[in-house]
Amino acid sequence: MSEYIGKNYINGEWETSDLAFEKRDPSSEEVLGIFPLSTPKTVYKAYAAARVAFASWKRKSRVERADFFNKIAQIVDSRKDDLARAISLETGKNFNESLAEVIEALHMSQYAFGSGKTPVGEAIASELHEKDSYILRKPKGVIAIVSPFNFPMAIGPFWCAAPALVEGNTVVLKPSEDAPMSSQLCAEIFEEAGIPKGVFNVVHGDGATGSALVGENVDHICFTGSADVGMMIRMQAAQSWNKTTSCEMGSKSAVLVFEDADLEMAVDACVASSFKLAGQRCVSASRLIVHRNIVDKFRDAFVDKVSALKIGAPFDVSGEPSDAYYGPLINGQGFNKVDFYNQMVEKDENAEKLLMGKRIGEKGFFVSPTVYQSEWTKAEYLRSEVFGPHVAIVPFDKNEEAIGIYNDTEYGLAVGVMTNDYRLARICREECDAGMIYWNGGSIAAESHLSFGGVKKSGNGFPSAARTFRAVTHEVSWTVNHADTLSFPQGMK
Ligand code: UN1
Repeated sequence: MSEYIGKNYINGEWETSDLAFEKRDPSSEEVLGIFPLSTPKTVYKAYAAARVAFASWKRKSRVERADFFNKIAQIVDSRKDDLARAISLETGKNFNESLAEVIEALHMSQYAFGSGKTPVGEAIASELHEKDSYILRKPKGVIAIVSPFNFPMAIGPFWCAAPALVEGNTVVLKPSEDAPMSSQLCAEIFEEAGIPKGVFNVVHGDGATGSALVGENVDHICFTGSADVGMMIRMQAAQSWNKTTSCEMGSKSAVLVFEDADLEMAVDACVASSFKLAGQRCVSASRLIVHRNIVDKFRDAFVDKVSALKIGAPFDVSGEPSDAYYGPLINGQGFNKVDFYNQMVEKDENAEKLLMGKRIGEKGFFVSPTVYQSEWTKAEYLRSEVFGPHVAIVPFDKNEEAIGIYNDTEYGLAVGVMTNDYRLARICREECDAGMIYWNGGSIAAESHLSFGGVKKSGNGFPSAARTFRAVTHEVSWTVNHADTLSFPQGMK
């Protein structure tokens, strides 16, 4: 395959730059493409284009803005396979999962289109009979999006950008340097659908590019990535008057398996939650908290299934989707991080090693699953985000202990609750610190038209996907006096 030429998309123009970086295929480590390493000057150019375009874009009707997403949905739908192939190539993601990601993006596009014709606020009674009151929403302005590698198409261009654009904002997107191609393909689609110049811009680059972007006078930042970077972004935003942020950060998600759970379903839910995308979803379960009376049975069945998982590149030699369950980790840094935590487990006698992850093959960042059993302790590997195929089975005795263990990390993103006891399920819903709770499901399975976000160190209270519409708008209370005399509420004269 010839190298892909990455370009920035600024004010409707495609631009290369002298400074560039190589994006490598995580499966083969071969160069996939060359992308601009954008400097602060280039970032400013994109920001300025978005600022200028905002003045006219916000004055289009909401219906008209949303209509672009009907066209975008049609294009995405007609290119599902090509888009999924690009995602798999640059991330190493299994083709079926990449296709699901494209469909997730398609659903967001359809939802954005439909949102053009849904209510944009609330009508509320005034204290005074002659007055009408409303709470309306207005676009914030220029939205900076800093997106992650693991869902390069669904999250940045769709979960974040689509609602931002429907609401009348303009966008500068900085895709992850580990998955820049998918965002560029999305920019091509947005252009083909006729989105006007300057409304949607893409600047490629690394962390320094992202930092330059969030340092511009943007009005809101949609960030998905690590909690440490999220904290830096929030601190920077706090130094300005206008900037708000929605941050989707790390997790130490889990599945709780209670004594009465359907064991086969629980095992399947746990395998998917822990190992899809090689454990590199924000919502991946790295803790399986299992009732002690069933832990042996669970563990045997789980280890059997996990041992049979095929690990390999998303495509076979003929270029067809392979039958591998998961692919490589995204890069050497990701590999080293997983290796670091694997070694920590290896050295700790409190952890009963069931499967120890090993590097597979000479090329690419493939690593086999790590599964161990441990009591709940202060060990770092039980509490830190690993972002890889690494999972602990933690037994518990009393149901409230399971919830206590689940809550005993700094994070709070997603949790699966496996039980047929409806009372217990409701207690978990009430007591677990999480933004997404799946009863009789794993910790993965978000849908575009729901809210996606977490609590504690996982999120800052402005969830993504369907709820991006809220994060990118500010509210205006609009009160209309229909009388020909002045009156005040609260009995004021
Ligand atoms: C993420 O993990 O960053 O719920 C997004 C899921 C996907 C989205 C995950 N639909 O696993």
